[in-house]
Amino acid sequence: MLPNEPEMSDPVYILGGGSIGLLLATRLAPVTDIVLIRRPGQHPPRCQLTLQEGELTRQIAVAQVGADALAEPARRLIVCTKAYDALAALRQLGARLPADASLLLMQNGMSSQEEILAAFPQAHIHAASSTEGAYRPAPNRVVHAGRGITRIGRLQGQEQDWAKLLCQGGLASETVEPIRWHLANKLRVNALINPLTVLHDCRNGELLEQPAARAAMQRLGEEADAVLAAAGYRFADSAFDQACAVAARTADNISSMLQDARAGRRLELDAITGYLLQLAERHGVAAPTHRALYQRLAARA
Ligand code: PAF
Repeated sequence: MLPNEPEMSDPVYILGGGSIGLLLATRLAPVTDIVLIRRPGQHPPRCQLTLQEGELTRQIAVAQVGADALAEPARRLIVCTKAYDALAALRQLGARLPADASLLLMQNGMSSQEEILAAFPQAHIHAASSTEGAYRPAPNRVVHAGRGITRIGRLQGQEQDWAKLLCQGGLASETVEPIRWHLANKLRVNALINPLTVLHDCRNGELLEQPAARAAMQRLGEEADAVLAAAGYRFADSAFDQACAVAARTADNISSMLQDARAGRRLELDAITGYLLQLAERHGVAAPTHRALYQRLAARA
């Protein structure tokens, strides 16, 4: 083992108590030492979390601490904040985040991963693209609404078997290469579905039924195909076909962005549409429909 390499006996810290943070905390606590890092402030040393899946409900006790009160260095850390909070939340850990920590990034979109790679050049960084469906109806309760798969791959530093850990916790997971392709594949789906569900205030499946929404999705798809191709990504199908298939499969879902909009939370617009627009600019490709959608939703926020 190298001098400061994390040991498997190091606890796994989970940064962020949103739906994915609670899902991972409740699934992993039975198989390894978990510490949930909550917002700065006073928190009792343990919390009782409820995991609900269908009719089944389980109570799981998990250690927790405020981000400003961490006593030990977080050598193995799963980052479960929203994309726009991820870098600031890591910086907030200060000296409690060793420079060579092992990080697993769970964020949507592709912008926060790039920022974190640049800010922590010595860290061992993996990213995940997950299709698990979860929501948090109360601060200590998570509903595992739809089983999916979490694909994990290395972005920087040494390989760590995060997929094995998730599998031990009962979550389907696999190591993939290159993870950037999987992130881009999810990005194109999110860029076509999520902002439109906010604009039309509708479930994913309704985008396929409303002619105006479907036509917008098609235009967004053509632009996303051109941008991602210019950036070197190759896909067997078009963004539109892929997004239609996902919207049909998740027809009853309220997209994560529409959930944020309805709850009055900030939208992950920069990480998704904003990142696509950055790529478009970098490669000199026009993406006027994405730009107009970005401007409309940004103004609304
Ligand atoms: O962000 C989401 O809600 C999901 O990634 C997806 C695939 C659009 C399904 O709702």
